[in-house]
Amino acid sequence: MRPQLQIALDVGSICEAKRILTKEVLHEVDIVEAGTLLLAAEGARAVKELRKHIGEKKTLVADFKIADGAGVLASMFFDAGADLTTVIAAAGPDSMKKAQEAAGERGKELQIELYGRWDLQLAKEWYKLGLHHIIFHHARDGAHRWNAADVEQVRRLQEIGYQVSVTGGLDRESIRLFKEQPAFAFIAGRALYGSKEPAKEAQALKEAMSGI
Ligand code: 5RP
Repeated sequence: MRPQLQIALDVGSICEAKRILTKEVLHEVDIVEAGTLLLAAEGARAVKELRKHIGEKKTLVADFKIADGAGVLASMFFDAGADLTTVIAAAGPDSMKKAQEAAGERGKELQIELYGRWDLQLAKEWYKLGLHHIIFHHARDGAHRWNAADVEQVRRLQEIGYQVSVTGGLDRESIRLFKEQPAFAFIAGRALYGSKEPAKEAQALKEAMSGI
C-alpha cells in the first residue's frame, strides 16, 4: 500500500481549519486530522464540523493524545465523526484498554502517540492489548532533525506488527529518509498549513513520498 499523506490542523478555530481545507487541498491529502491545538480550542465540535466539511470519503483523525478518561473521550470523538483517535504513550494499560473497547464497539481505530519515555518492550505489550497503530513522533516543542536512527526505530515497530505513522516537523527532505522503510502515513502540519500554497506543498510532499 502506498504511504498516505495526513494533514494535521493545529490551528485555533474551526473556521481557520475549513479555510485551509480547500477542495484543492482535500484532493491532495488522504487523511485529515483535527489537531490537538484545534481540539483544545473548539472541542469535539471541531470533529463534527470537519466531518461535515470533508464528507464521508476521507479518513478523519481526532488527535487528542488521550491519557485518562479514555473510554469517555474516545467515544466522544468517534461519535462526533472521527475514524481514529489517539492515546498518549504515557496512558496506563487500563486507559488504553478502555479506549480500545470504545473503538472496537464502533468499528473504529486507535493510535498510540509515542512521546517521552517508551521502549520496544512496552510497544510489544500495547500490541498484545489489541492496539496495532502507532505514531512515531518528535515533539513540536523540540527542533529534532530526522535521521537514520529514526528510520531504524520505525523498522523495529513495524517488525512488531504495527502500522507506523511518522510526524513532527516533517518536510520533503525528512520524508525522503523513509525511502527504504515506508511508513503508513506521513503527518504534516506546519509544512502544509504554514505554506502560502498548501495544495502545491502537499503535491511536493507527495512527490517526495512517491519514491517510497
Ligand atoms: C503535535 C502534533 C502535530 O499535529 C504533528 O506532529 C504535526 O505537526 P508539525 O508537522 O506542525 O510538526 O501532533 O503534537
